[in-house]
Amino acid sequence: MPVASDELNRIIHADNLAVLPTLPDGGFTLVYLDPPFNTGRMQSRRPTRHVRLAATDDPEPAASGTITGFAGKRYERIRGDLLRYDDRFDDYWGFLEPRLVEAWRLLADDGTLYLHLDYREAHYAKVLLDALFGRECFLNELIWAYDYGAKAKRKWPTKHDTILVYVKNPARYWFDSTAVDREPYMAPGLVTPEKAELGKLPTDVWWHTIVSPTGREKTGYPTQKPEGILRRIVQASTREGDWVLDFFAGSGTTGAVAATLGRRFVLIDENAEAIAVMRGRFTDVSGVVFEQGIAPADA
Ligand SMILES: C[S@@+](CC[C@H](N)C(=O)[O-])C[C@H]1O[C@@H](n2cnc3c(N)ncnc32)[C@H](O)[C@@H]1O
Repeated sequence: MPVASDELNRIIHADNLAVLPTLPDGGFTLVYLDPPFNTGRMQSRRPTRHVRLAATDDPEPAASGTITGFAGKRYERIRGDLLRYDDRFDDYWGFLEPRLVEAWRLLADDGTLYLHLDYREAHYAKVLLDALFGRECFLNELIWAYDYGAKAKRKWPTKHDTILVYVKNPARYWFDSTAVDREPYMAPGLVTPEKAELGKLPTDVWWHTIVSPTGREKTGYPTQKPEGILRRIVQASTREGDWVLDFFAGSGTTGAVAATLGRRFVLIDENAEAIAVMRGRFTDVSGVVFEQGIAPADA
């Protein structure tokens, strides 16, 4: 089943969990997710609908309504231990887990998931994703470092986000570091002038300003991420013509970058304000269709 029969880019106003099951298995080379942080606004837990039983060394099959890790790890036990340890994370993961199960299904065999988190969630999520995807599918922990806004005085000011990167198949994933924009050397005097001129490949620590409140990119959407961050991700992990999915789309940064780079996209957001911002942002982009999906419960 194709992602869109007419190859149009899609922007869908809906609760993502209602739409994801309608998208085809393996349809996307890249899934980028920037979910809302654990703000206490999390929705109540819904029963997980997918039971995916992988080949497992566990003689006890997972109880109905639970998930065995895709790699056959004892996800259920690790999940139980971790969520008992910190019940504040429980609601957050209850919200995220069924969506990550869908993300895994939607990834192509050579596809990659980028999960954008803050420092409070990242470590719990890493442990759970290792168990869910399989530790061998973990590719990178990217640190996006910025320097803006108020600074704590009683601890080191926290000025970074974490992006966890997982591949569907460690033997087949697409990654082209040469397609990524290079960056200046920190000490250009230590390399040849030719190398300094060419710039260096980015590492797993990305210094990048936030979206400037007065800059060209600014849409007014409060959690908007910089195009420069998404640009690297899309350049490295997709080819022209590939499909990209962002189902916490917000202002549509992932789609804006995908369109510029000749990739196709599906964006989903449940917030009417996000859809309004995207209508403005994609006015000049051809081949984009806006769809009204299943309305969110509290809309
Ligand atoms: C942190 S923002 C994403 C910002 C985005 N990366 C950007 O650059 O603008 C998270 C988004 O997820 C959306 N969201 C939260 N829960 C959702 C759900 N269940 N279905 C669809 N969208 C959801 C929110 O409306 C919000 O726009």
